[in-house]
Amino acid sequence: MNILLLGSGGREHAIAWKIIQSALCSKLYVAPGNAGTQGIAINLDFGDSDFDAIKSACIEYAIEMVVVGPETPLVKGIVDYFLDDNLLRQIPIIGPNKVAAQLEGSKDFSKKIMDDCHIPTAKYATFTNVNFEAGIEYLKTHSVPIVLKADGLAAGKGVLICATIEEAILEFTAMLQDHKFGDAGAKVVIEEFLQGIELSVFVVTDGTSYKLLPSAKDYKRIGVGDTGLNTGGMGAVSPVPFADATFLKKVENRVVGPLLHGLNQQGITYKGFLFVGLMNMNGEPYVIEFNCRLGDPETEVIVPRLKTDIVKVFQAVANTTVNELNIEIAEETAVTVFLVSGGYPEDYVKGKVITGFDQIQGSHLFHAGTTMHNQDVVTNGGRVLAITSLANTIDDAATLSKAAAEKIQYEGKYFRNDIGNDLI
Ligand code: AMP
Ligand code: GLY
Repeated sequence: MNILLLGSGGREHAIAWKIIQSALCSKLYVAPGNAGTQGIAINLDFGDSDFDAIKSACIEYAIEMVVVGPETPLVKGIVDYFLDDNLLRQIPIIGPNKVAAQLEGSKDFSKKIMDDCHIPTAKYATFTNVNFEAGIEYLKTHSVPIVLKADGLAAGKGVLICATIEEAILEFTAMLQDHKFGDAGAKVVIEEFLQGIELSVFVVTDGTSYKLLPSAKDYKRIGVGDTGLNTGGMGAVSPVPFADATFLKKVENRVVGPLLHGLNQQGITYKGFLFVGLMNMNGEPYVIEFNCRLGDPETEVIVPRLKTDIVKVFQAVANTTVNELNIEIAEETAVTVFLVSGGYPEDYVKGKVITGFDQIQGSHLFHAGTTMHNQDVVTNGGRVLAITSLANTIDDAATLSKAAAEKIQYEGKYFRNDIGNDLI
């Protein structure tokens, strides 16, 4: 079957790498892809949310399945676009529809459903310009730190953790009255701060049944020791040692089960991958957020551990046979180290020539912000390359990934050398 994968990050290179190992895949197309997917699939030159171009490509290349990597096309309704189109309707598209994708597309929607389903999460209240003054009063008596969240998608920047009430009032005002995050911040969720260790649990579901995928921990800050600015993710580890069978049972019984049941009761069928962002508070899981897709860089540690044919996973979602799906996971631990551009997550320069690919042995190298320029692979984003290694311990896997990271060269290269250290 011919498959079209949407997206251009390390997540998509990892998924593409896994798809082409399947006997079920004849030709793989990636839109827009990167220099890594170009080496193993056919890149198409249009954006992951250009619905009309996606439709044309489906027809031109006789696409028989579409897999959606990132959240934007899902939140914009790519699945509904397919279902509403006579030519596209019969092509399975893997991901939730527009209403279900609101779990990520609207923090307020996500908090409401958690409330309805009694899912453990931080206490919250939502405000708009209509009840702005009530929001200020609410903040004045709030405990600190205070978490402010723009309701809509804000490219990973919409969450602010304010140390004081004064700061929270300033930011709340900036969001609602000065449109700091544009339309995404027209509604603001004010939330309690949860103290604990973060991790993510991934779920694949057809709306009726679900199976757990491995847990993973992401390292979001730019600096060693989890310091400095937030990034898209500087590395990841899977599995997470403290997410043992008891903890995961709690996640299933208190979060995943009630959520799918609650969505069904509201007439919402969630199909695809669900990212459950959690805070582990003394062994008890609290939901920080839901995302309607796999994580990046979490996919780069999960997919290399997946022994099951990933196309069979997609088919089970499409055919509503997830209950029959056997998810096999390698016992080994995977550690990803992300190589980024100098200056990231602030300003950085693109177009730096990358060398050393032939030096990498025994680790997986997934491209993120890369492109081809003449015959060279050059940097094309803040997060450039993800290196994943598998071993029996976190320490050994991290050592392998760091050694590989040393062998890749480009001007301004930076990576964190402490990924996984907190878990050892
Ligand atoms: P999100 O965009 O929802 O992933 O939030 C970004 C980051 O903010 C999360 O990964 C957490 O580190 C942090 N965060 C969000 N909500 C809370 C909360 N209620 N308490 C503590 N940290 C939070
Ligand atoms: N790693 C966090 C995310 O994919 O949103």
